[in-house]
Amino acid sequence: MRAIAVACALIAAFTLPAFAGDAARGQETFKACAACHGDRPGDLGPSLIGVVGRVAGTREDFRYSGPMARAGFVWDEAHLGAFIHNPRSVVAGTRMPFDGLADDRDVEDVVAYLASRK
Ligand code: HEC
Repeated sequence: MRAIAVACALIAAFTLPAFAGDAARGQETFKACAACHGDRPGDLGPSLIGVVGRVAGTREDFRYSGPMARAGFVWDEAHLGAFIHNPRSVVAGTRMPFDGLADDRDVEDVVAYLASRK
């Protein structure tokens, strides 16, 4: 009986990904970000191509705020999700002029879209 319970818990853990975001939907939602993150030189925000796995605030072609340049963590799904939901809760003093996306599904979809852009 106990073995069955453990097996069920394991199956649940492996079949429910932490982020079940929809990248195609995320690409639509990302239009709110693309005004600043459009991968054009001179854009207000840094390019987000390949952001998953990169240390925060380290693109050579962008001048970050002090807090972002010193953040020191790697952008993984968890950090991105929290930042997109509420930027200042993750990097206090960031100068990203955006209040975040309130809807959890929108956040997960944008994270999935960002993870798909290598
Ligand atoms: C009005 C402009 C603007 C909008 C809209 C905006 N951002 Fe930003 N973003 C910035 C700026 C400016 C920075 C640099 C912040 C700093 O240096 O503190 C930034 C930084 C970031 C970073 C850190 C990148 C790195 O290289 O470490 C991520 C991730 C990010 N934004 C994601 C998003 C996402 C996702 C959205 C849409 C949901 C979004 N941003 C909307 C301007 C914007």
